[in-house]
Amino acid sequence: MNIVALISGRGSNLHAIIKGIEEGKINAKISLVISNKKDAKGLDIAKSYGIEALFLNPKDYKDRKEYDKKLAEVISQKNPDLIVLAGYMRILSPEFIDAFEGKIVNIHPSLIPAFQGLHAQKQAIEFGSKFSGCTVHFVTKDLDNGPIIIQAVVPVLPEDTEETLSQRILKFEHKIYPQAIKWIADGRVSIKGRKVIVKDAKYGTIPVNPALEDF
Ligand code: GAR
Repeated sequence: MNIVALISGRGSNLHAIIKGIEEGKINAKISLVISNKKDAKGLDIAKSYGIEALFLNPKDYKDRKEYDKKLAEVISQKNPDLIVLAGYMRILSPEFIDAFEGKIVNIHPSLIPAFQGLHAQKQAIEFGSKFSGCTVHFVTKDLDNGPIIIQAVVPVLPEDTEETLSQRILKFEHKIYPQAIKWIADGRVSIKGRKVIVKDAKYGTIPVNPALEDF
């Protein structure tokens, strides 16, 4: 499976996915990593593994539609099977999503549909939630709300700060994202309307549902 990844920053999820590929667990290749931020650490991580890494500057384009048109052009040249959003903090245009619908996945640091958008972990703390978590989902025009592949749940503690809760969630992000991508690469994932089924996965487990197999 040929992957193009979009990032905006640290790239720890990208790194977890690269490691899953390097360890032979995910049968895939990342042909290109694109960032909308010049100083994204994830670009350096990609380069250190010999992966082509590109900064595409939003300031060079008149608006989101034009930027995403270029983004779609660059991505199409690689003819990817899957576009992986790994901390890509920019809303994608409807035209972009239409062009690749069913082929874009994202990770979001909450149990969607709760706490969509920015600072999901802070939103969970401020709301007084006792559990939060993370979700890998297909991307639709409905922001942070597409069909769910896998979720992990973590407790929210009274003394939590945005940082401590983010760290607790991130540990699971680094497991559920490579796992979901492995399942897609292995052809086990199908979408029917809002519902995603992973063939032969074990459903009904806590804290991760469906259960992790490889990470
Ligand atoms: C992750 O926590 C990811 O879930 C979140 O940004 C962080 C990126 O970290 N994404 C979103 O909030 C998307 N709405 P990383 O660059 O180290 O992978």
